[in-house]
Amino acid sequence: MLLLHAAVACTLALQAFAAHAQVPEPTGLVDQQHCMFCHTSDEPFLAPSFHQIAERYRDKPNASTMLEDKLRHGGKAHWGDMAMPLPADRGGPLSAEDAHTLVQWVLSQ
Ligand code: HEC
Repeated sequence: MLLLHAAVACTLALQAFAAHAQVPEPTGLVDQQHCMFCHTSDEPFLAPSFHQIAERYRDKPNASTMLEDKLRHGGKAHWGDMAMPLPADRGGPLSAEDAHTLVQWVLSQ
């Protein structure tokens, strides 16, 4: 049991170290838009994991602008054939500010 605790603490410490920025989860928005219906933080599910997405875009200039626009208006698929549904089909319209908050959070994972 002690070993397990040590392992968990170690993993948490590593994760905190690896994260570029600590952005708290915008839980209300994530729930309202059902992000976790298709995404998980670290396992590919119906969609790429937020971790994969962050890895892919973290160092790309303008990536967050592109992703915010895509979250609000859709766009062509970058990962496979299945595109992401539009906000109207996810739970309601998404403001530019909310899209920004969500993308900053995704890219911090
Ligand atoms: C109904 C399923 C579904 C829901 C709900 C969903 N996504 Fe996605 N998402 C996808 C799929 C499928 C892709 C891969 C699309 C592609 O190939 O570009 C994706 C891709 C993405 C990408 C990467 C886009 C790109 O161009 O590479 C981001 C960022 C993202 N989702 C964020 C979110 C956020 C934030 C939410 C909640 C507001 C959300 N998703 C809700 C299915 C979903």
